[in-house]
Amino acid sequence: MKFGVFLPNGSNGYIPSAGSPVYLPTFEHNKQISIEAERQGLDFVLSMMKFRGFGGETGYWDACLESFTLMAAIAAATEKIGLFPSISLLSQHPAYVARMVATIDDISGGRCGLNIVTGWNKAEYEQMGLWRGDDYYVERYEYAAEYLSILRQLWRDGTATHKSKYFDLDDCSCLPRPQVEIPIVCAGQSPRGKQFVADVADQQFVMTDVKKLKESVVDINERAAKAGRKVGIYALFHMIASDTDAQATRIGEDIIAKADNGALQNILASANLDTNTGGTSDQLKAGLNQTIDDGNLAFMGIPVIHGSFATVAEKIDQIGEETGIDGMLFSWPDFVGGVRDFGERIKPRLA
Ligand SMILES: Cc1cc2nc3c(=O)[nH]c(=O)nc-3n(C[C@H](O)[C@H](O)[C@H](O)COP(=O)(O)O)c2cc1C
Repeated sequence: MKFGVFLPNGSNGYIPSAGSPVYLPTFEHNKQISIEAERQGLDFVLSMMKFRGFGGETGYWDACLESFTLMAAIAAATEKIGLFPSISLLSQHPAYVARMVATIDDISGGRCGLNIVTGWNKAEYEQMGLWRGDDYYVERYEYAAEYLSILRQLWRDGTATHKSKYFDLDDCSCLPRPQVEIPIVCAGQSPRGKQFVADVADQQFVMTDVKKLKESVVDINERAAKAGRKVGIYALFHMIASDTDAQATRIGEDIIAKADNGALQNILASANLDTNTGGTSDQLKAGLNQTIDDGNLAFMGIPVIHGSFATVAEKIDQIGEETGIDGMLFSWPDFVGGVRDFGERIKPRLA
């Protein structure tokens, strides 16, 4: 299995709770995590992009370092680890993004991939006059497929001509070309999102509890097989590892008890507007009543692998065996210590 880090380039990482560290994102922090991840033999780091946070007492995600410029700097500070910036499609023209990726490809010596984010939170784009109207909720993967086809034309040929409802490129030049084929990941959770990955992307990130993860893997594999393709499947988890199982459970329970209710209500208000069903917005709406293991909203609906170092290693092995996933992507309450503990105290125990 391959392992990655979901970098905390937004305020407070991925936990809207005062029971977890509350901080502003910095390059220094993200660089330290990436260097530690490389040292511990992890495979990739991925930074997100959010243009508007969810506020609350912790200011959850209110600040977010820009994903491409951050990854360019991390590219220069690392040597081996894979780098995935995230593109929120509505925010940039594909010819601009093709060039940014080619630039990071050059800086990193071919280590750059791309995370495609179609965007489910209208408020992020409406504030910039970039929301395409509410039809975009359901059209977003059609838009993404065209966007990706333009990126690939530009990377392959150094030029693209493409005229459609969404785009107008006329012999658009984009050089240099990247030195490797750029791996494309997407974390769409809805049926439309999974179909997009099965049809045209390389890897799917899945954010769901272990039972639904098994179903998701079968579903994605079937969709990909029908399209005559094979895609990699990675699952997203929080990790809380401590000296004992009881101690890790206590940390998790404290995070739920101190959840930032203002931020949670704002997250739910945005999720309630999304008309593309069966995806993350539905998972968030269910999150208030979920257990720690299944993805409580205080953990952003992301399931938590928790326990002693030995228990966490066992759980990772078990999830890998039961689901057949290709890798995992982790977030921690304390990232630097979390990555180090994973590398030194958990990874060596893995089958
Ligand atoms: C690992 C991971 C990374 C993500 N990165 C971002 C991001 O950078 N920006 C964002 O707005 N959404 C991000 N998302 C949300 C997804 O891209 C996607 O929009 C969301 O899960 C909704 O899926 P759906 O469109 O299929 O409903 C991420 C989700 C996961 C699991």
